[in-house]
Amino acid sequence: MSATYPPTIRWAVAGTGRMAAKFVQDVRHLEDVEFVAVGSRSLASAQAFAEAHGVARAHGSYADLVADDAIDVLYIATPHPQHYGLALAAIERGVAVLVEKPFTVSLAGAEEVVALARTKGVFLMEAMWSRFLPAFVRARELVLGGAIGHPQAVQASFCAFRAYDEADRLFNLELGGGTTLDLGVYVASFAQHFLGRPDEVHAAGTTFPNGADATVSALLRWRDGRSATLTSTLQAGGPNRGLVIGTAGTLEVTPTVHRPATITLTRAGQEPVVEELAPTGHGYSHQVEEVNRCLRAGLTESPVVPLEDTLAVQWVLEEMLREVGRDVVEAPRG
Ligand SMILES: NC(=O)c1ccc[n+]([C@@H]2O[C@H](COP(=O)([O-])OP(=O)(O)OC[C@H]3O[C@@H](n4cnc5c(N)ncnc54)[C@H](OP(=O)(O)O)[C@@H]3O)[C@@H](O)[C@H]2O)c1
Repeated sequence: MSATYPPTIRWAVAGTGRMAAKFVQDVRHLEDVEFVAVGSRSLASAQAFAEAHGVARAHGSYADLVADDAIDVLYIATPHPQHYGLALAAIERGVAVLVEKPFTVSLAGAEEVVALARTKGVFLMEAMWSRFLPAFVRARELVLGGAIGHPQAVQASFCAFRAYDEADRLFNLELGGGTTLDLGVYVASFAQHFLGRPDEVHAAGTTFPNGADATVSALLRWRDGRSATLTSTLQAGGPNRGLVIGTAGTLEVTPTVHRPATITLTRAGQEPVVEELAPTGHGYSHQVEEVNRCLRAGLTESPVVPLEDTLAVQWVLEEMLREVGRDVVEAPRG
């Protein structure tokens, strides 16, 4: 389905939590984006968010938000298990969707959402914002241009300390808590971006008292011998780099794999070359520019985060969760 969009594309946000607020603030400077609606489980919460962020319409249910006729794109910033039902509902109405990471909590759920978008010809993208940051774009350009030869292996880690609180969605089992879906998705996506879909996933991990995955390491294998070693944890801060190892050099992104601002290219026998490429603001606006660009170009997916990549990453996450004994299910459709 090809649509013509007005000069300002009308965005809506589902959820009024931490990420929803950060996102709306961070894209404020974009001239062709206006947040026209917000949805929440409670009208009071939607109204408070609308007032704080200058959003015109506040909806007291997600059903009402999705039924709003005057939105072009829905940005979903609810806990992970709620992404699935909201994405399906929006796509059914022909509304383009940007879904926070992780896309869903199950491969079956992701496949269903992707299949519906393809059938309906509606734009759909996982909000894997890292891939649009200037440092990441430059890293991709260098690797694709052969700067490190042929990529053979990836090492990536995302280590963040979060105080354990069973009620918080980061740890809550019903809300998809645990490190794999929250942080592991970044390192899995980084590996997938540079090496493609692996053939095997092996993982080991520890758990919090409630059974949510706490620290998880994975070994991804490709039939031709390429590999990725990935770690994520909610228990400790630490190195968060991403490293691509090739036949002729290495490329490292720092300070964090999910929000890189520096890349270091080290080629055999040469001094490292460092490039600083800071994101704009926190960095969420780069992916929003891509969504608007795709909509105006009549694309139904982004070539930078194509749906096949999202499905490949979702499979890796599902395998990792299975290996550590964690069962996560999609929230029922509302
Ligand atoms: N890209 C990034 O850098 C980044 C960073 C942080 C989080 N995220 C992603 O963003 C999503 C939201 O994370 P967050 O940190 O914003 O979470 P949060 O602070 O807990 O907020 C989630 C919001 O979802 C809504 N919600 C809908 N159904 C819910 C339910 N059954 N239980 C609880 N809340 C429900 C709530 O809003 P109402 O009460 O108004 O309905 C709540 O405020 C997650 O998928 C996460 O992975 C991305």
